[in-house]
Amino acid sequence: MTPAPALHLSGSARYDGAPVFGPLEFTAPAGTWTCLLGPSGVGKSTMLRLFAGLDSGVTFEGSLGAEDGAPLQDRIALMAQSDLLLEWRTVLDNVTLGAALRGAMPDTERALRVLTRVGLADHASKKPGALSGGQRQRVALARTLMEDRPVVLLDEPFSALDARNRSLMQDLSAELLAGRTVVQVTHDAAEAARMGDKILVMSQDRLTEVPPPATTPPRQFDAPDTLVYQGQLLRLLMETA
Ligand SMILES: Nc1ncnc2c1ncn2[C@@H]1O[C@H](COP(=O)(O)OP(=O)(O)O)[C@@H](O)[C@H]1O
Ligand SMILES: [Mg+2]
Repeated sequence: MTPAPALHLSGSARYDGAPVFGPLEFTAPAGTWTCLLGPSGVGKSTMLRLFAGLDSGVTFEGSLGAEDGAPLQDRIALMAQSDLLLEWRTVLDNVTLGAALRGAMPDTERALRVLTRVGLADHASKKPGALSGGQRQRVALARTLMEDRPVVLLDEPFSALDARNRSLMQDLSAELLAGRTVVQVTHDAAEAARMGDKILVMSQDRLTEVPPPATTPPRQFDAPDTLVYQGQLLRLLMETA
């Protein structure tokens, strides 16, 4: 894997003339895990899509990209907020979709290993319609992990999971994405407290950095400093509109 670059964004976004966010400054340090929180509609998904280069009708004024100046296009993977599974393909064929779209040979063995790690090996030949919401989300996670990119954007990746699976998938993602530049959108203060090297709360015109505990992620969910931090972060979210 090529070295993971830092990300930066400086500017503002609008849809049809209506301001979404900014002007604001965002940076995600190289090779670390940044959590982005904030009220619904503040533009978190829009920001991830801008980095991923997905044209969603947004007007962006400013600059954004990798700090090393090289294009992000082939170095970035986005796990979108909706799972975007193709209903007519099997779970396995959804996980290898990236290769199929590139006209490359799918690495079925590796896909099965990733599916095993997300606990879905037994579901590989099913269609997405036969899965629960949480299972579908884990297929989308497996597909993102398959891409093996140095920059990974995760838009509320564990929102549909039960508490146990959420904790397991947090640990798995921290393990498999170590050393990459990760930006994760989450509404869950407990999740940010576990996962973030850097934690940002977004409002329309600003990003507030809330320095996490000094321990290394993934932090224990029941460690006293994790719990105290989680409370502080939730307090700040209550006050952010
Ligand atoms: N394709 C679009 N066209 C017009 N407005 C959009 C579009 N996508 C998002 N928006 C608007 O932009 C704002 C930010 O949306 P989004 O980035 O999804 O917020 P968040 O992820 O923080 O909840 C919202 O007001 C939303 O309605
Ligand atoms: Mg969103």
